[in-house]
Amino acid sequence: MVLNQKPVTFDDHSPSSDPAPTKEEDRLEAIASPNLDGDIAIPGDKSMSHRALILGGLATGTTVIHGLLESEDVLRTAEAVRAFGPAVERLGEGHWTVTGARWESPAAPIDCGNSGTAARLLIGAAAGFALQASFVGDGSLSQRPMARILEPLRRMGAMADGDFLPVTVRGGHLKRIHHVNASASAQVKSALLLAGIQAEGGVEIIEPAASRDHSENMLRAFGCDVQSSRGRINLDGGCRLTATSVDIPGDPSSAAFPLVAALISPGSNVCVRSVMINPLRAGLFDTLRAMGARLDVAPRGQKGGEALADITAAYGRLQGVEVSAERAPSMIDEYPVLAVAAAFASGRTILHGLAELRVKECDRLAAIVQGLRACGVDATAEEDTLVIVGADGPPPGGGSVEAHGDHRIAMSFLVFGLASRAPVTVDSAASIATSFPGFAELMRTIGGRIA
Ligand code: S3P
Repeated sequence: MVLNQKPVTFDDHSPSSDPAPTKEEDRLEAIASPNLDGDIAIPGDKSMSHRALILGGLATGTTVIHGLLESEDVLRTAEAVRAFGPAVERLGEGHWTVTGARWESPAAPIDCGNSGTAARLLIGAAAGFALQASFVGDGSLSQRPMARILEPLRRMGAMADGDFLPVTVRGGHLKRIHHVNASASAQVKSALLLAGIQAEGGVEIIEPAASRDHSENMLRAFGCDVQSSRGRINLDGGCRLTATSVDIPGDPSSAAFPLVAALISPGSNVCVRSVMINPLRAGLFDTLRAMGARLDVAPRGQKGGEALADITAAYGRLQGVEVSAERAPSMIDEYPVLAVAAAFASGRTILHGLAELRVKECDRLAAIVQGLRACGVDATAEEDTLVIVGADGPPPGGGSVEAHGDHRIAMSFLVFGLASRAPVTVDSAASIATSFPGFAELMRTIGGRIA
């Protein structure tokens, strides 16, 4: 079934205003597609897009953004920032302006949809102001843990009831805290940094391992001094943000799908241009190389303060690999598609330290195992370790995979079906628009048979 993935525009004003797709419309099927070939660009980075809108809304003056990802998750953040008072305008595709203002109580609850990044970062930013705001989300987001941000925000002086959405936050008059993060979560770190902008004395966060540092990099671009050394991130009080221009490069988490498709589909060669390769996001590429992948990463300078590369992937044999927990933060969103690559490799792949996958858009660890088994692959998860027995070539496929409303599970198993022996069907196809609108169309341009 062809899903009508119409690009969402801000003019729609409501990313969820479309009627829910029927079960049939919400399915996509991928069929073996050898010789994938092309030179493509992918949409802007999701993490940076959320941050550009929020920091723009906190800054003095008008921030100009180019390359904004116009996915449902990011449009939720755009609407939310506007609801707090800043002016947010769409001038053209990916071209937006945000004029900052003192944030005020919004007239209605802030609907974060499916987006954990929107919820956590917006709650942090809003908590800095003397306002009251309620935050709601869809069924998946309402089950994701918010205590990890609400507990430290309460210690800073914010008031919030409950530990899951819906939650009402009363902010303002925050004081400095020193917070030790239990996991390497960039969302928690970012929520506290955003609250810390307005807190007396700022904020200090200790991370058990480095998580993505886009907030720190972008805060510096907006003129705020963030010090970061050996897992200790400090923001002094009294920092003032000044509007700037932000150029957002391609999202490595989205680039992962066409690149892995090329690695596993015989005869393929695909180049993805201008992919952001911040080392704290590039764990997948290191892991694929350790599996013997034919990946060429050609540096292409910088964009928006982040390193860029053109990445080319060519089909070849892959070997299983064992990956330690230390690498997890730098590829946390890429485990579903890595699991697909592992299913085509020779030997076992053992992935450690995956506890956080249990609290993503769905329980991704369970969804990966379920999906792989439905496609004839031997996979097991024990505690936070995933073991996949590779088929040393194309596995059977033929499964009907439940994506549990999770965009990355849906895209990963469509990639699987592009190279498995029998086609693969996924449900929750509409969820793909939360991070990668136009995914199926783009895959078709390189020869991927997805319909
Ligand atoms: C994100 C951080 C990660 C990641 C998510 C985006 C961000 O979540 O999984 O997709 O933009 O800060 P955690 O902070 O929960 O690890």
